[in-house]
Amino acid sequence: MSDDTLDGHKQRAAAYAVQFVQPGMIVGLGTGSTAIHAVRGIAALLAQGVLRDVVGFATSRAVGQEAARLGIPMLTEDMPREIDVTIDGADEIDPEMNLIKGGGGALLREKIAAQASRRVIIVADDSKLSDRLGTRQALPVEVLPFGWRSQARFLAALGASVSVRRTPGGQDARTDQDNMILDCAFGPIADAAGLAGRLSARAGIVGHGLFLDLADDVIVVGPGGVRHMRRGDACA
Ligand code: A5P
Repeated sequence: MSDDTLDGHKQRAAAYAVQFVQPGMIVGLGTGSTAIHAVRGIAALLAQGVLRDVVGFATSRAVGQEAARLGIPMLTEDMPREIDVTIDGADEIDPEMNLIKGGGGALLREKIAAQASRRVIIVADDSKLSDRLGTRQALPVEVLPFGWRSQARFLAALGASVSVRRTPGGQDARTDQDNMILDCAFGPIADAAGLAGRLSARAGIVGHGLFLDLADDVIVVGPGGVRHMRRGDACA
């Protein structure tokens, strides 16, 4: 009997994606509570000898440490080879398979991995589906601490309600690059490509969570079962 909890849906989405990992591949290991199931799945298949010669590339320090602990051989951070397939989560997914990512703070490394991957597979429970990006999730923007208040004003002028990401202890959160994250509630974003362009052009903004035209596959699980959307499909 399948596990119809939220975590059960995440596990099933990850297990479905792991089927696409082949022996000898370099695999980008995503960050978050869904992608970690894929990391565990790959580690289990390696331990059983079902998969061989797979090497991981971590999208965050935390996932790199966990993958190494589970016995997955890891590519060095300078990425001497391109990635065959990355399996990662998402915070919001629109009908064109564009994404908001970065809820876990790893948006910059995740985008570097996605752009260096031949195939990007997104795994999620179906609560992440949305008609328009920005509807259910603030957009994470990674900024240099130097001059960060200027970036906050810039983002507010673009229409966002801006909050500094904090740790559970109330400190400013820092990314693996020692940068800050500004969570930007825009509401439904009418022109995601235009906004991405504005953000990318701004000095001091080192990354943002709009992942446009990067996903090749989206695997979503809900009470109705598994949906596998491929590039070119519409998931509405
Ligand atoms: C990490 O920075 C994010 O991009 C995650 O991939 C995203 O937040 C999804 O996380 P969950 O699978 O935990 O919802």
